[in-house]
Parts: sequence; C-alpha cells; structure tokens
Amino acid sequence: MMKTIIDTDPGIDDALAIIYALSHEDLSVHSITTVAGNVDVERSSQNSQIILHQLGLTLPVSVGQSQPICYELQTARHFHGQDGLGNTTSEFDFTAGAEYGISSAAESILGLVHDSSDSGVRLICLGPLTNVAQAILENPKLMKRIDQIVLMGGAFECYGNVTPTAEFNIYVDPHAAEIVFSSGIPTTILPLDVTQQVEISANQLEKVATKSSVPWKQFACSITHHSMNVHQLKTGNRRLYLHDPLVVGYVLYPDLFKTIKADVRVETGSSLTRGMTVADLRQPSDNSNVQVCVKVKSQSFLNDFFSTVFGLAQGDF
Ligand code: BDR
Ligand code: CA
Repeated sequence: MMKTIIDTDPGIDDALAIIYALSHEDLSVHSITTVAGNVDVERSSQNSQIILHQLGLTLPVSVGQSQPICYELQTARHFHGQDGLGNTTSEFDFTAGAEYGISSAAESILGLVHDSSDSGVRLICLGPLTNVAQAILENPKLMKRIDQIVLMGGAFECYGNVTPTAEFNIYVDPHAAEIVFSSGIPTTILPLDVTQQVEISANQLEKVATKSSVPWKQFACSITHHSMNVHQLKTGNRRLYLHDPLVVGYVLYPDLFKTIKADVRVETGSSLTRGMTVADLRQPSDNSNVQVCVKVKSQSFLNDFFSTVFGLAQGDF
C-alpha cells in the first residue's frame, strides 16, 4: 500500500482529518510532519501528539518549519483557539502516545521518498506548504518521485477566508505554494470552492457522537465548540466547514469529486492580493500536473466521515 505522510498545523479541522485518516483501514499513514500555520510549530507538534494519544496510536511526528519562506507567520488562533484545539487541551494529556521523529519534517519527507521506491509516497497537506517547498528546494529530483500531493488550499471562483482573494494556507506562505504548484509533482488542490460544500452542524455532530463508543468521541466534539461559536457570531449558525477532512476524503474516494486540470499560479508579492490562486478553470490544461477540485458529492463523503470517525455503521446514524 502507498505510504502517506500527513503534513499539518492542527488546527481543529486538521485534528478531525487526522482522526479520519488514522481510523480508516484503507490508508497507511507512515508519519506526521508539522508546520507553522494555525498555531506555531511547537504547538502544532504538541497538538499532533494529543491527537495521537486520543487515538491510542504511536507514530513519528517530525517538527517542521517555524516560519514561512518570506513572510512573518500569521496564525489563526482567533478561529482555532489559543492552543489550536479550541482551548480544550488543558483537559487532554499530551505526554504519551506519540514519539518525536529525530529528523526535521523536510528530511523526513525526503527520507521516506528515498526509501519507498517500491510502494510509492503520497503527501496529504493540511497547512501552509512550507515543509514541502523546503524539501523540493533541497532535492527537487528526489521529490519528483512522489506519486501524489493532495492539499487543502486556495480559492478560485469564490472569496477567500483571509482576504477577498486569499485562503489561509496559501496566504500564510504563498512562496511555498508557488514552488509546489510549479514543481511538476502530480498535485490535487482542494480549495475553498469545494471544501465549503461540506459543513456539519453542532447538532449533527453531537447526535452521531451519542451513538458512538470510540474513546475519542468527547475530544472530537469538544474541540469544535470554539470554532462553532466563532462561526455562529459571523453567520448565525453553529456549523463548521470540514476543509481538511475533505482532503482525506479525496484520497479515499476520488470518484466523488469533479476535478479540472489547470496551470495554477500564486500571487506572492502584492499586498492587496497576496496568496491569491490564479487559474483559468474554463478550459482544462491538458499538460498540467496540477488539478483543482471543484465539486464533491458531499452527502456520500459525510456518511463515510461520520461512520469512520465515530466507529459506526452507515445505517446507525
Ligand atoms: C484552512 O485554514 C486552516 O485554518 C484550516 O485548518 C484549513 O486547513 C482553511 O482555509
Ligand atoms: Ca489546516
């Protein structure tokens, strides 16, 4: 089975994505690499340990870049909480359940690619692309052996969530995104255009969790409360977009998605449109290695997400 690294900045929806990926029998997750994004990289790494501890799993966690390539780090603590997990982590132990890898995130990615010529490697990227860009800068030839990068980022035919033109992961490190998109590595982008087609309500989550007996059900619900409150203040609804879990959904069930091949560029300079992802999605670009997801069968995804995360059969909720 292809080996998968999850590169992440947990983050509430990152946490749900990790739970989803590690609970699914069809994915072989080799390790986690952490990056600065929603929170600083130390906190991302601690949060990864907390999540693994909740799942009762041991997996290497390699610590990645603490700053974007050019810009100062901008976090999203207003949305994810001061600790990145909805201000819940004082309730949860993070000393056990995981081990820190000895190498940096970029070394860890390069090492796995080097050692996996028989099985193949996939990267699931849930935060700014700084670690992946660093690995490409260090060894572009080796990185070309990666079979698939699937990532959450960008906004093409909709507004951004940081500025009118930029989505958070790309806004934080646009230079890294530009390096990844122009690397020639087969890449699938899940932008806001598709991730905003999938949201869950607090009621829905609690209802499914009530039927569940997995030990992490309380954790999976508690971490969402803060961001649901923020969403409610903005929109009137206690809901949460499943941005990062949808990336895992794509890896598992690509047939649920509509994609368009495209030459994707990123605005790195302008202060007005920094982090804007630019592509013409009207005509597929046949010689591009990058494809953009534009549509998902959201109910089919949600059925699998809920049943996997909460250990239920699909008819049970
Ligand atoms: C992305 O930004 C982060 O805050 C989320 O975890 C997700 O990866 C959505 O724009
Ligand atoms: Ca994320």
